[in-house]
Amino acid sequence: MEVVILENSEECSAYAARIAASWLKKKPNTVLGLPTGRTPLNFYRQLIRMYQEEGLSFKQAVTFNLDEYVGIGKDHPASYANFMQQNLFRFIDANPENIHIPDGLCHDVELECQSYEEMIKSAGGIDLQFLGIGGNGHIAFNEPGSSFASRTRVKTLTEKTIQDNSPEFGGTENVPMHVMTMGIGSIMEAKQIVLLAFGESKAEVIRQMVEGPLTASVPASILQMHPKATIVIDRQAASKLERSDYYQWVFNNRPDWQRL
Ligand code: GLP
Repeated sequence: MEVVILENSEECSAYAARIAASWLKKKPNTVLGLPTGRTPLNFYRQLIRMYQEEGLSFKQAVTFNLDEYVGIGKDHPASYANFMQQNLFRFIDANPENIHIPDGLCHDVELECQSYEEMIKSAGGIDLQFLGIGGNGHIAFNEPGSSFASRTRVKTLTEKTIQDNSPEFGGTENVPMHVMTMGIGSIMEAKQIVLLAFGESKAEVIRQMVEGPLTASVPASILQMHPKATIVIDRQAASKLERSDYYQWVFNNRPDWQRL
């Protein structure tokens, strides 16, 4: 696990965008795994800027979003399909046929989850997976206790996540209780994973994820087992890490070929 600590969320987002760009330049049909939430907003702004100013193209890229609420469609303002449209897809040249997000209004959620897994497989698997992290350590919507072997399926949100995500819905009573989410097993098959986290509110969970024991109670701790996981965090999110000086040292002394 590589831990990259940068000054603020802008620097972290620009760094993450450079990782995406280096993949897309080498492999224009990169399969990207994409998150939602407040954390990736600046990262998406950076990708848009690179598309507009630096000629970065998403024309052949294939995207899979991590999750979606059950029971709301792409026209619902708080759906993740709408989030992606508003914050990224409408500004770049991605081919709509290559964009995948579970359909919150599908008739058969189990079938939808199964065919999502199959689509990922037939795209050749995810190359580069971006993640945020929930305050309780969830990745995508894999709440604490989720199996490390889980695949795309339906989950019931915890009360904490309902609370955390309620602003987008104008109150906890409007947040759907069920979601479809890629599983931890599905996420771990990505060739590279980049997790972003900012601010003091994420400091404790980042400490547990990076330096705590591997446990399903902190789903993100499984990233300790991934061969190529990069955690990109600002100083505040890093504030509870015991070995932060060492991570900084490693980053500052990384060999030239690892620099972006
Ligand atoms: C949601 C998403 C996660 C995201 C998390 C953190 O529950 N399903 O993918 O990482 O929230 O959100 P934020 O970035 O707003 O803190």
